[in-house]
Amino acid sequence: MRIIACQNLKGGTGKTTTVLSLGSYLAQLGHRVLILDLDVQGNIAESLEISHSHTMYDLLVDDFSFEACKVTARPNLDAVLSDNTLASAEMLLVSRPRREETLALKMRGVTDYDFIFLDCSPSLSLINQNGLLYAGEILVPISMDYLAMLGAVQVVENLEMIRKYYERTIRIAGILPTFHDPRTNLSWEILAALREVYGPAVLPPVRVDARMKEASCARKTIFEYDRRSRSARDYIKVCEVLFHGQTLGQNPAAERGEAGALLRAVAG
Ligand SMILES: Nc1ncnc2c1ncn2[C@@H]1O[C@H](COP(=O)(O)OP(=O)(O)OP(=O)(O)O)[C@@H](O)[C@H]1O
Ligand SMILES: [Mg+2]
Repeated sequence: MRIIACQNLKGGTGKTTTVLSLGSYLAQLGHRVLILDLDVQGNIAESLEISHSHTMYDLLVDDFSFEACKVTARPNLDAVLSDNTLASAEMLLVSRPRREETLALKMRGVTDYDFIFLDCSPSLSLINQNGLLYAGEILVPISMDYLAMLGAVQVVENLEMIRKYYERTIRIAGILPTFHDPRTNLSWEILAALREVYGPAVLPPVRVDARMKEASCARKTIFEYDRRSRSARDYIKVCEVLFHGQTLGQNPAAERGEAGALLRAVAG
């Protein structure tokens, strides 16, 4: 079972889209997949056009079990949804013991999935720290702009903090370039900088694709909407690299958490 948190502290870098695309593709291949929505925006419910009476709030704060909170979204694809009640879960958890480990404790005994993806919000919230302490790995989507790289640098620095304070190491599963536009120099420059600093941890890029926006308006995954679109094909490539073979996260700078090197590389 692989548990992967998708995070970047910058908003709109493709976190939710990545979780949905990788998750739905793997589910269609027959793997058992679970998506946990850790974002008050509740985008997973909206995107898959599903609802459920119990949400992440109930799982974290109330005594509801995982079984009571999960909903089947598609064949082989389950989810625990979120909505704006999750904001108050954050406040209630603050005063509780082992507050950063609540999710991991609630998920103990949930073992019948091949992949669990966590859709994080763009923040260093307590809920996200819960996500990171539960996940063994982190996937960082970076849209091809400077602020998204800054957000990624902060994510890697936070991993360092977790390593120090909780004595937990979270592996970088991959750095995923998103919104890649092959027609612009900036996009290629940022891609080159990412590869220079993070080496083989950098996954194949996902190109900008109007079909992806259309899919999200139609409340379908890209594999339901247009599986021959370029973003669907790009996500299949990402899946192949991420889950079949190649060892990632071996770049020394990334392993040592030298996130500042990325910004220096971009600055030239
Ligand atoms: N490859 C792509 N091409 C075009 N549009 C895309 C692509 N990937 C995602 N989008 C669109 O960009 C928007 C933002 O993507 P998404 O919601 O996945 O980002 P996010 O990182 O989860 O945002 P937030 O930080 O608000 O949670 C969505 O409307 C989505 O449909
Ligand atoms: Mg999102």
